[in-house]
Amino acid sequence: MTLAELEIAQAESLKEIAAAADAAAVESLRVKYVGRNGSIPALIKAMKDVPREERPAFGKAVQAWRAAVEAALAEKGGGTAAGEQAVDADLTLPGRWWNLGVKHPLTRVIEESAAIFGRLGFTVADGPELETPFNNFTALNTPPHHPSQDRSDTFWFGDDCLLRTQTSPVQIRTMLANKPPIRVICPGRTYRRDTTDATHSANFHQIEGLYVDTMDKPVSLADLKSVLAYFAREMMGDGVTVRFRPHFFPFTEPSVEVDFTCHVCKGRGCNVCKQSGWIEVAGAGMVDPRVFRHVGYDPESVSGYAFGFGVERIAMIKYGIPDIRWLYENDVRFLSQLG
Ligand code: DAH
Repeated sequence: MTLAELEIAQAESLKEIAAAADAAAVESLRVKYVGRNGSIPALIKAMKDVPREERPAFGKAVQAWRAAVEAALAEKGGGTAAGEQAVDADLTLPGRWWNLGVKHPLTRVIEESAAIFGRLGFTVADGPELETPFNNFTALNTPPHHPSQDRSDTFWFGDDCLLRTQTSPVQIRTMLANKPPIRVICPGRTYRRDTTDATHSANFHQIEGLYVDTMDKPVSLADLKSVLAYFAREMMGDGVTVRFRPHFFPFTEPSVEVDFTCHVCKGRGCNVCKQSGWIEVAGAGMVDPRVFRHVGYDPESVSGYAFGFGVERIAMIKYGIPDIRWLYENDVRFLSQLG
């Protein structure tokens, strides 16, 4: 076919398409011109027989023809290649189903906590999982003979590097880098050489909290309790309150352990809370003056509270998860139930 003949064929084809009376006619013209064995694909296949110097111009003309035919067919409501598929499609088949993912329960607890404390003016601070013994122990008033520093309790890398055993070192980092007032929570991953069983894992998550202010706004244990009570209600639902039990932590004085009323029995006593009506969720207290000295604060001119929650703990009681390992197995049959 010469270029001139091609031009005539193109005009002819467009006239035919314009005159097509119904969908069947359009379809048969589609097959005739651009179908798998149509005249345009045949021309493309025959390109190798066109003299080399004419090939570029000829190729261009064929492509232009193809585009014109496809445009004309589309205008008539006939498809291009898609039309061919549509004819084969079984319209009675069910549609394709895309599974929507869900957020992991630990992620949800962390995000929800950030939102709840955010409403109280807390921002989120971050710190590394590899820490110095100073940030993880010394500055937190934990002496070298303390059992938590033991080689069998902490993952050490030499003498100057360890996997943090708690999110509390982020308190130190935050105070070293900022002046009061400080109001932060620090969610993150922590590590201990625990053997893994239904309630322990060598690798778990905590949410640390720290509020420090100057003495024109002295901070009290009552402030701590009201903030944790607000958190308890927002996270676990109405009717959940907090109770403090005296305890000891090296970095707080006084120190308390924090219980929430059991969200299952609302305090009446059940299997989940071992009939006590309470569930332990956090450690907390007033920041010890020695900690303030370690970060260069004058304990006479600042005061503050700190707390540390176990994220797995909260997720397990909030969603009724009996085994901590379920949180790490990434079994979608389990995870998707919590979406
Ligand atoms: N770091 C403690 C732990 O891992 C939890 C904790 C207790 C954090 C008291 C605190 C606190 O900030 O004040 O067991």
